[in-house]
Amino acid sequence: MISIALPKGRIAEETLEIFSSIFGDSFVFDDRKLILEVGDFKFLLVRNQDVPAYVLHQAADIGVVGLDVLEEKDEDLIRLLDLGIGKCKICVGLQEGKELNYDLPEIKIATKMSNITKKYFSQKAVAVEIIHLYGSIELAPLVGLCDAIVDIVETGDTMRQNGLKVVETIMESSAYLIANKNSFIQKKAEILSLYEKISQKI
Ligand code: PRP
Repeated sequence: MISIALPKGRIAEETLEIFSSIFGDSFVFDDRKLILEVGDFKFLLVRNQDVPAYVLHQAADIGVVGLDVLEEKDEDLIRLLDLGIGKCKICVGLQEGKELNYDLPEIKIATKMSNITKKYFSQKAVAVEIIHLYGSIELAPLVGLCDAIVDIVETGDTMRQNGLKVVETIMESSAYLIANKNSFIQKKAEILSLYEKISQKI
């Protein structure tokens, strides 16, 4: 049995579709259920940011999670495969008509990705004050909470609709298949066989 942590939402659905196309069975969670067992697989439905914790602590053998989350959490996990789904960018955004003022002693940045933000600006030797938020990041500059934001941009609609623009792209992200290091040793044959099958489907 291999247990697989999936992030709730579209990435979980697309991953389950990949499994359906490989194994033929129907891989669909029943209403509100958080565990799905099909054949030798046990799927766990978790929050996106929680996938690394489940896999790190071996509550799941493998998982699917965005590269942005992997970079933000920076845990000791094996990155097996880029699934090429859930593509997005992590960008610096600010209000239309404004520029990022590097002359400020400190730039105030609102984000839910504090570590990625810290690393990016420290590499540029720019001092930042991070305001950690959990969502609706695009609101923050509109009400004076920050000078700029670092956030996920997928279609760009949320920024556009709120009068913001992308000024810098920090990284591109997509969903990766990851594994726990011990599971990878203990269940190497099963995990590698799954890896092969998934690689052929994507
Ligand atoms: C993410 C992100 C942006 C939006 C980007 O938020 O933080 O707000 O998606 O997508 P777009 O470029 O296609 O508009 P999410 O939907 O995860 O909600 P949240 O703000 O509550 O975290």
